[in-house]
Amino acid sequence: EKQFSKSIFHRIGKPDKWEIPFEKLSFQSHLGEGHFGVVYSATLGGKPVACKILKENSTIDETRQLLQEIELMKNVGSHPNIVSMIGCVTQNVTNGPILVVEYCSMGNLLTYLRSVYDHTSKMLNEYHEDVYHDGRQLFINKSYELNFSQIESSLSLSHKDVLSFGSQIAFGMEYLSQQKILHRDLAARNILMCEDKRLKVSDFGLSRDVYMNSIYYKKSGGKLPLRWMALESLTHQIYSTQSDVWSFGVVLWEIVSFGGLPYPGVEAQNLSELLKKGFRMIKPQFCHDKVYSIMLDCWKESPNDRPTFSALKEAFDALLATET
Ligand code: ADE
Repeated sequence: EKQFSKSIFHRIGKPDKWEIPFEKLSFQSHLGEGHFGVVYSATLGGKPVACKILKENSTIDETRQLLQEIELMKNVGSHPNIVSMIGCVTQNVTNGPILVVEYCSMGNLLTYLRSVYDHTSKMLNEYHEDVYHDGRQLFINKSYELNFSQIESSLSLSHKDVLSFGSQIAFGMEYLSQQKILHRDLAARNILMCEDKRLKVSDFGLSRDVYMNSIYYKKSGGKLPLRWMALESLTHQIYSTQSDVWSFGVVLWEIVSFGGLPYPGVEAQNLSELLKKGFRMIKPQFCHDKVYSIMLDCWKESPNDRPTFSALKEAFDALLATET
């Protein structure tokens, strides 16, 4: 009986140019976990890759999801700010399909931001006794008269990095939206970093079928990324490129707050009421006014009032041009 249940997944889909023989992959270490998948590092012909596989005891529905992600990625095409597919294993598999993507050596953006935070607060504490931290906010005692540029120069995340991150993520998202793909889970945890602080949008493989997927989300319980969701997604389950733009604004907030949890101190279930009343997150301490104003634009109540990803990319590029 066990053999029978395994044989359901023995051969999934037709092999094509993307098919990689399982034996060519040598698995290394656990990199992370997503909604329903586990990501491992591996090598393929000596080259590092990342492999997304199903968790143990996955359902047929989850198998279908991963297959759907594989099919979607085959059609996405390549873009410098999108994680690209290397191939897949769908033949002779006993534990479900495997999605093989490029390996991003610096891991996800959220972990990176938090390590910048830890590094920075340690460094500041060494030199200034009155600098302390509470949660993920850095508080600096004003009596030390540390001015903004002094503080900033000691951070390993410069204002220029912030602008570059904004431009890169917007560029990747512009491409996805041109491909008529909604991300629906745009968050720092789903952005990967390669050498030279190059960013790549990842985990956009969720169904294009918005309606089906919002049902999936609900069924799997507590998995909705509430703090990243646009008001209309929270209240009416409406998703669009413009709701991805809202999430982009939250990612900007994550960047300038060094990986903080959005809406600190707010219970997620109270979020939609607060947002409906017009409440928005305040400007984080190290955030420049122009970046905060872009964030607020992304959080406009009416989706059409929000900037497009193309406009966002242009805005960050323009700010970058004035930086140099
Ligand atoms: N974690 C999840 N996916 C990854 C990837 N493609 N590269 C590096 N770390 C990852």
